[in-house]
Amino acid sequence: MDKAFFSKKILSWYGQYKRSLPWRGGSAYHVLVSEIMLQQTQVKTVIPFFHRFLDRFPTLDALAHSALDTVYQAWQGLGYYHRARYLHEAARAWVALGRDPKSYEEWRKFPGVGSYTGAALAAILLEQRVAAIDGNIKRILQRCFGLDTLAEISVMAQEVLPEHHYGDYTQGLMDLGASICTPRAPQCTVCPIAQHCKFKNGIWTPIIVQKAPK
Ligand code: ADE
Repeated sequence: MDKAFFSKKILSWYGQYKRSLPWRGGSAYHVLVSEIMLQQTQVKTVIPFFHRFLDRFPTLDALAHSALDTVYQAWQGLGYYHRARYLHEAARAWVALGRDPKSYEEWRKFPGVGSYTGAALAAILLEQRVAAIDGNIKRILQRCFGLDTLAEISVMAQEVLPEHHYGDYTQGLMDLGASICTPRAPQCTVCPIAQHCKFKNGIWTPIIVQKAPK
């Protein structure tokens, strides 16, 4: 598949079908809270916790100046409590920095912000040209381009980045992976890239090598 075609299709599909999620279009603080919550938890579970958390800690300053115990309390039911501690530490580091992080590298310095979360934050908040690679995005690239290894997927993730709109593109891949290119029973009939995908309706399309005419 043409690589520019791939990102164009993802962007136009996202423009039409993007999910309306409470952190989209919100402040950088909202996006950080959402990305930390989404690390090990699905979108539909996160939404009510996200609202409750923001009621309790409406601003970065409010979070940074709260006791860790109160953050654990607000996290109750979401699990993986190390995330609550990291988020609290990240909020303190952010306040100490005195300004918003300006790059993927700066986001990565915060506790709890690994390569995937750092890339998602840099793409969404800064429009930085970085590839966020989570399980959903790996699956889409693996299927679409018929890749075998993580190394191949990482190279392809870089190569298929669009020329702009990195935030929308990244979230488009996330939404496509969550709703259409699902692990089981993907809905290939409504997928915007199915026409050029090597994996259709769960079956790898063999690459047909045409013999040159004699
Ligand atoms: N999973 C992780 N980050 C996400 C986001 N920003 N939108 C949808 N799903 C996500």
